[in-house]
Amino acid sequence: MTAPSLPGRSRMQPDHHGEQHVLHPTAHEGPTGPRATVILVGNEKGGTGKSTVAMHVAVGLLRSGFEVGSIDLDSRQATLSRHIANRHVMKERDGADLPMPRHVTFTASDHVSRDEAERTDIEAFDALLSELADTVDFIVIDTPGADTPVTRHALSRADKLITPINDSFVDLDLLMEVSGSTHETGRISLFAEQVWEQRKQRAARDGGSIDWLVMRNRLSSLNARNKVAMFEAVQGLARRIGFRVVPGFAERVIFRELFPRGLTILDMFETEGTGPPTTSQIAARQEVRTLIMALGLRHPGAARQKVA
Ligand SMILES: Nc1ncnc2c1ncn2[C@@H]1O[C@H](COP(=O)(O)OP(=O)(O)OP(=O)(O)O)[C@@H](O)[C@H]1O
Ligand SMILES: [Mg+2]
Repeated sequence: MTAPSLPGRSRMQPDHHGEQHVLHPTAHEGPTGPRATVILVGNEKGGTGKSTVAMHVAVGLLRSGFEVGSIDLDSRQATLSRHIANRHVMKERDGADLPMPRHVTFTASDHVSRDEAERTDIEAFDALLSELADTVDFIVIDTPGADTPVTRHALSRADKLITPINDSFVDLDLLMEVSGSTHETGRISLFAEQVWEQRKQRAARDGGSIDWLVMRNRLSSLNARNKVAMFEAVQGLARRIGFRVVPGFAERVIFRELFPRGLTILDMFETEGTGPPTTSQIAARQEVRTLIMALGLRHPGAARQKVA
């Protein structure tokens, strides 16, 4: 590999309008004391909003005053890395007040032997994670919409797994077969099997657990019938395959417009020249905050609160 050396540490940047300063990183006792909480955003299906969610969670935590590391495991598309690169441009060009994560794009080994490439990648990933975990409070990992050995391994290192799904039975089918009319369930998906397997690995390695959260993304205000059917089906699956359902994001044009400027909806209220927020932007900000709160990162008594 591959993992380039880490850029400089992020600057602390409390959100002057935020209410999330009460978040505490979950304490994990590593060899050198409390270690970062690892939040992985994953779904084997492409285009469900993984990179959008990863960027918003990372910036939400930064704006709450925490130090955040981010890893892009999708080096082919590198959406998260490109979003952060655009953010650097915006910050440097306009002097915008934009907190930055310590970001690394993880490039997989191109070794001819698949076994060797896998071994190299896993070692490199662990080294990177270990280095980051000692210097930040949270690590947000974006993953490709496909099963890769390093993504699987990263999952086994996660404390939280966020799986965004589009609000459609097609996406639900990628967790488990579900009948749209009767909600009867069938075969469990390969991805859900993978989560199960990595949960076992995690428990065997350090006794830890992976808190799996599924969020419905791009919720439409139009198709109310599908929305209700999806709600019921997702709730049913949550019990069957062991995840929590957390509030998602509505379909909003603003989520598509932020990428070229390197912004998140949370920056719109803090950045000069973005104009007064619209009702939709205020609602979107609330959705992001609600998601972050629903992650359950609050851990009273855990060390290292950064912002009073
Ligand atoms: N809530 C939303 N409303 C409107 N557009 C959205 C929303 N969430 C994501 N998008 C848009 O959907 C597209 C896919 O989102 P994103 O790139 O985050 O998905 P992904 O799961 O990371 O995709 P991939 O699997 O290809 O990496 C992007 O154009 C993004 O701007
Ligand atoms: Mg992506």
